[in-house]
Amino acid sequence: MTLTLDWENLGFSYHNLPFRYISYFKDGKWDDGKLTETSVLAISESSPALHYGQQAFEGLKAYRTKEGKIQLFRPDKNAERLQKTADRLLMAQVPTDKFIEACKAVVKANQDYVPPYGTGGTLYLRPLLIGIGDGIGIRPAEEYIFTIFAMPVGSYFKGGLAPTNFVVSEDFDRASPYGTGAAKVGGNYAASLLPGMKAKKAGFSDVIYLDPATHTKIEEVGAANFFGITADNEFITPLSPSILPSITKYSLLELAQTRLGLKAVEGDVPIDQLDRFVEAGACGTAAVISPIGGIQYKGKLHVFYSETEVGPVTRALYDELIGIQFGDIEAPDGWIVPVDC
Ligand code: PLP
Ligand code: COI
Repeated sequence: MTLTLDWENLGFSYHNLPFRYISYFKDGKWDDGKLTETSVLAISESSPALHYGQQAFEGLKAYRTKEGKIQLFRPDKNAERLQKTADRLLMAQVPTDKFIEACKAVVKANQDYVPPYGTGGTLYLRPLLIGIGDGIGIRPAEEYIFTIFAMPVGSYFKGGLAPTNFVVSEDFDRASPYGTGAAKVGGNYAASLLPGMKAKKAGFSDVIYLDPATHTKIEEVGAANFFGITADNEFITPLSPSILPSITKYSLLELAQTRLGLKAVEGDVPIDQLDRFVEAGACGTAAVISPIGGIQYKGKLHVFYSETEVGPVTRALYDELIGIQFGDIEAPDGWIVPVDC
């Protein structure tokens, strides 16, 4: 049965598409993996993923071009980050070739669900790596599942390119200085559920976390990295060992410098120096670039460019990024991987 979808108003929610990929790691090696129609995972009740959080995930998108072709954006970087996460949690690594071939297979099998060009929609891929098997002691699993499902998505934050407000978490951290903040593991997101829910109830899009050691510098948003633009055209994004190394952020650092002529730096972003920014935004695969209207901190809302209008530099970065992702603007070498359908 084909799902009937409103391509222009997808939001970010689960859709059970016809096909997903699954591969098993056993006796020290991966099987060949295959596409399957079942969306249910059957695993031992004692799986380390369930008890001790030995799991990791990724997020990347497939884009429909003007010519109707389909392409992935930097999937090799997601593969590398999943490998780093796997190392941190002593999980089996998924080789880059296997990762990219699996992404392509899932996209090809679900190609009818890659939203049409011009709707703003994309096909979001969710790779997942979990430690399974009978291992109730606290030690790494000997068996793993690597799976990828897909779902068509629109904007992650409600405003899309309209700015929304964010609030600084003053009571909770998502990660610790030498913890797993830089790894894409579910535990970081479990830690962010309560502050995220409080923020949303108070009318904010999401939380901005401060550095867990001193609580003086911006780290990142619950589901995206942070950037600010200064009056003298600097693109600044936090540098910290406890934030997720965002592929979008590193892409923007490069594009800001090479295509927009901005000075692009990773550095400290003290929370008491928000005045240096004339624009700010959240960036990530799901978030794309979501302009930040204002940041609420200690009961005061600091507004950047405007609470209702996206600033010119943020808009230019957005146009450049999505232009590349949808195939309208030439990409730097190796950033675009076509999916043959
Ligand atoms: N930070 C967090 C906590 C995230 O969940 C994400 C989403 O993946 C990002 C940053 C952005 O990373 P990327 O640009 O690789 O999607
Ligand atoms: C992504 O942008 O891919 C994310 O993983 C963010 C969020 C949906 C968890």
